[in-house]
Amino acid sequence: MSKNNNALLSTYTFANGVELKNRIVMAPMTNFSSNDDGTITEAEAAYYARRSSGASMVITACTYVTPNGKGFPGEFGADSDDMIPSLSKLAKAIKDQGAKAVLQIFHGGRMCPPDLVPGKEVVSASDVPAEGEGNPVPKSLSESEIEEIIDAFGETTRRAITAGFDGVEIHGANGYLIQQFFSPHSNRREDRFGGSLEKRMAFPLAVVDKVKSVAAEHADSSFLIGYRFSPEEPETPGITMDETLALIDVLSDKGLDYLHVSLMEFASTPRRGVDDLNKTRIDHLQETIDNRVPLIGVGSIYTAEDARHALESGVPLLALGRELIIDPDWVQKVAEGKEDEIITELDKDKQEQLVVPDPLWNIITTTPGWFPGV
Ligand SMILES: Cc1cc2nc3c(=O)[nH]c(=O)nc-3n(C[C@H](O)[C@H](O)[C@H](O)COP(=O)(O)O)c2cc1C
Repeated sequence: MSKNNNALLSTYTFANGVELKNRIVMAPMTNFSSNDDGTITEAEAAYYARRSSGASMVITACTYVTPNGKGFPGEFGADSDDMIPSLSKLAKAIKDQGAKAVLQIFHGGRMCPPDLVPGKEVVSASDVPAEGEGNPVPKSLSESEIEEIIDAFGETTRRAITAGFDGVEIHGANGYLIQQFFSPHSNRREDRFGGSLEKRMAFPLAVVDKVKSVAAEHADSSFLIGYRFSPEEPETPGITMDETLALIDVLSDKGLDYLHVSLMEFASTPRRGVDDLNKTRIDHLQETIDNRVPLIGVGSIYTAEDARHALESGVPLLALGRELIIDPDWVQKVAEGKEDEIITELDKDKQEQLVVPDPLWNIITTTPGWFPGV
């Protein structure tokens, strides 16, 4: 093992005392492979088990907290107590291999395909469709419906605790419901959930408060709570970097265990909203966070060199997504001094060895430009 790899392989201790065995986390990735009733499949459990002996923490694909939050075909559910045995199977598949298991909790809002939600009724903060052709006009949620969804994030957290997960990650990124409330594009409300930057934070913060109170009631202090966010939106109006820094400033004092940025490129720079557009988004975020809470960085980290370089930015933890599909033995190869054997392009002949379920495999091998090698 070369000396520098100590940085990647050293332990990390969260403020609540939970220790991770190294700095590599598996990024949440939807796999389209659950049963139609929302339970997980054997293929899915095997896919996670194959990737849970190297990374210190595995964040699952997103799971819907209410039936009208289902955002993908083959997404697994956490919207009723009937799902607890399925969730337990998933938590066990991950934890048996040595990683911490974190459930990513989610509502798709206006991004849900109408066919996947009850009565084909897609909902959001306001009745503004996503940009692009043919997107459905969502129904604007009433205040009582909003409260029900906040409660559902709490109920899903309770189920995650019962099922044996080590934590939950609130999915506030990638344009889904929580982000839709923060975004001036999708949130045109004039009540307590919208109208000003502060009011657009009300729903995300209410979800955080609910999840925290349920965890305080049902779990011990080792239960991790993370929050994922996307720093910017391309649309006008849309979330700008300075608005995200304002949200992150508030979230940094919320007693969360970690924040997790969603980026496709680790070293990407802001589009707009801050004076210094040459400084990376990660550097802007780190400056605002000012060591109050750990930030997980992510985005196109493929080689050990990429990862070492990313850690030099000062983030304590790195999430790898596509690369852990391409090479599930990434961490082990680094640990054994075999980093030159890390595979960084998807080998389309190796589905079986890589243990990837058919629906996910079919999508990633037929979508050009998404995965290296395809
Ligand atoms: C197949 C696939 C599914 C994804 N599903 C999710 C998801 O469910 N939740 C989420 O927050 N991000 C999701 N993402 C984004 C990843 O977590 C990650 O941020 C992104 O892929 C960039 O990291 P990478 O370059 O290491 O892949 C997904 C990405 C991929 C490739």
